[in-house]
Amino acid sequence: MSEAAQPVILARGLTRRFGDLVAVDQVDLQVPGQRVYGFLGPNGSGKSTTIRMLCGLLTPSEGDIEVLGLRIPAQADELRKHIGYMTQKFSLFEDLTVRENLQFMAALQSVPRARTRARIDTLIEQYHFSDRQKQLAGTLSGGQKQRLALAVAVIHEPQLLFLDEPTSAVDPESRRDFWEKLFELADAGTTLLVSTHYMDEAERCHRLAILDRGRLVGDGTPAQMTAALEGRSFVVTAKDPRRIQHALSGLPGVLSAAQIGASLRVLTDAADGASETSAQAVRERIESTVQGIDADATFKPAEPNLEDVFVAATHDGRSQREMAA
Ligand SMILES: Nc1ncnc2c1ncn2[C@@H]1O[C@H](COP(=O)(O)OP(=O)(O)O)[C@@H](O)[C@H]1O
Ligand SMILES: [Mg+2]
Repeated sequence: MSEAAQPVILARGLTRRFGDLVAVDQVDLQVPGQRVYGFLGPNGSGKSTTIRMLCGLLTPSEGDIEVLGLRIPAQADELRKHIGYMTQKFSLFEDLTVRENLQFMAALQSVPRARTRARIDTLIEQYHFSDRQKQLAGTLSGGQKQRLALAVAVIHEPQLLFLDEPTSAVDPESRRDFWEKLFELADAGTTLLVSTHYMDEAERCHRLAILDRGRLVGDGTPAQMTAALEGRSFVVTAKDPRRIQHALSGLPGVLSAAQIGASLRVLTDAADGASETSAQAVRERIESTVQGIDADATFKPAEPNLEDVFVAATHDGRSQREMAA
């Protein structure tokens, strides 16, 4: 059996309340091994709370968690030896040098003394710190701090790495380099769980869970999730997109109409029982509304993207909840 076949994280009915607030609401997860698994969701959707429960840092109000075959939180102490955890705050010691940060963490993670030196040398090389070993961490750039924080998080060669919005505080170029490092780690056999609110980062993950207000509203590969929206995304180009946006918002069958530069991105409802004909009717209704405002406007099908997936997942979820209520 390959390790990848066995889920590395299994959670069922995971729930966390803070007083009256339900921060994480009945979330089921299955994270396969040796892949980059993404958590996509806006601020406050429950990403950090979920990650903290999966690491054993926070006790769930309800639900079952198994990580690397261990029951969490009961076996959290054992788990800690096999996981790494990095947040956007990086938690480095600013008045220690690059090498001293690595040494300190090696000791904290009980890396055997005999192995520490070689391990740190390797990391300094792999993470491009050869010229900066003696530099104080506090004087590094944002991107360098992020790279060091990752090196520190993997000092004990964890099987599983949790990264909670690790790129929020750095520039786009550093974000790209950082993702290269994440894929190197996955290729070397590490499982990564990465939260983000950036669509372009979510797009790069092997699999993805979408969270909205504490609920899991979608999961799958980015390709599966966008393919499921085939036929529902459109682009309208017009002189005055805002006027058309107003006319389309609230039109039956229109889930959302969002301005992107000089055009509008339109997402239609899920085709239900009466499917084909009603989807066709919706398209015709949109087209005639657009043409009625601006005869020169164009209305064309678009390739669905993850932004659409997110909008559809949250809107469809909302209408289901309203129906259930
Ligand atoms: N320790 C806490 N006490 C009270 N409320 C909290 C606590 N931690 C998180 N929350 C609330 O739970 C919700 C989810 O937060 P969080 O998991 O941090 O979301 P995200 O990481 O997706 O931004 C938010 O409404 C947040 O204010
Ligand atoms: Mg968070």
